[in-house]
Amino acid sequence: GRVNLIGEHTDYNGGFVLPIAVEQGTYMLIRQSEIPPIRLYSATLDREATIYPEKIEKQDDWANYVRGVCLYAKEIAGELPSFDAFFFGDLPLESGLSSSASLEVVTAAGLESLSLKFSKLDIVKITRRAENNFVGVPCGIMDQYAVTFAKAQHAILLDCSTLESHQVPCRLGDCVLVVGHTGVRRALTDSEYAKRISECNEALSLLSKRIGQRKSLREVTPLEFNTAKWSLPEKLRNRAEHVIYENLRVEQAAKSLELGDMETLGYLMNRSHESLRDLFEVSSQELNALQEISLQQNGVRGCRMTGAGFGGCVITLIKKDWLERYLRRVPELYWQATHCDASFIATTPAEGARKIEL
Ligand code: GLA
Repeated sequence: GRVNLIGEHTDYNGGFVLPIAVEQGTYMLIRQSEIPPIRLYSATLDREATIYPEKIEKQDDWANYVRGVCLYAKEIAGELPSFDAFFFGDLPLESGLSSSASLEVVTAAGLESLSLKFSKLDIVKITRRAENNFVGVPCGIMDQYAVTFAKAQHAILLDCSTLESHQVPCRLGDCVLVVGHTGVRRALTDSEYAKRISECNEALSLLSKRIGQRKSLREVTPLEFNTAKWSLPEKLRNRAEHVIYENLRVEQAAKSLELGDMETLGYLMNRSHESLRDLFEVSSQELNALQEISLQQNGVRGCRMTGAGFGGCVITLIKKDWLERYLRRVPELYWQATHCDASFIATTPAEGARKIEL
């Protein structure tokens, strides 16, 4: 799975993101089989599924992520061997930690291990297509890219316009990262995600009328935005403002991470949360409560919601020495505020999808 350190709702606006992979994820045991159909079993859900390679169609079950990957992998590699696969995982589902990208990317990596030929970038493209076109969720490219390309102890600074990326060493100094789950699940398909994409596109076309044609909000500078923003209705102005300034924050955050400047990184995370809460309006009562309670604890440098929002997780940057106290106090305070159960995963930037020899 992945956690995004900063750069939220910027990927589908051609902007910057700064995710890390987490050690929690999806495992796939795969072996080639002699004859179709492809047989799947998810131990996490205790469900079976079948794929007929000659006729891969969407069904009403969990395996559509796998089917979509098989379909597009077959197109790129020109073949699809039959196989049996067993899936299990330790990533909470529908929590903003990319469980779907995790399942998609592990499937592509599994097919690669059966000697289908594709590059890492092919894996990103195949898996994103599976999510967008087959499953029908209009996500950006961050999750699949992060899960495919992540390196241990690094964050990825990804330019979503060019797909160029830079591995940023995570110099966390005396700090650690903790993922805090609000206990409230979210589903991208049910959320306002698609609405935000169209609001951003609308804002872009109104701004383009004033400042000249731009391909994405990423190409609009703060100066241009400030001269033209009054031509936008308030809601669209807020959406665009979030994206334009979030992109700047990502670049600054990458520098801070590389320099080990945890104070600035924490500051930027907090500004990002406020912007997602007030301007982009994708936070929730529970995310805000967990963020505020976290910021009141000793040793906390920064905290923000991570992922699409509307439930799921926050990520907290905290001094190591205060972690134990944080984990003792916050669940109780959060319960008092929301009557929800929070859970926490201390995390270090992990390696992305890979083959493990047994
Ligand atoms: C989800 C999507 C990503 C990205 C984030 C928000 O995780 O899958 O592409 O848009 O939301 O930053």
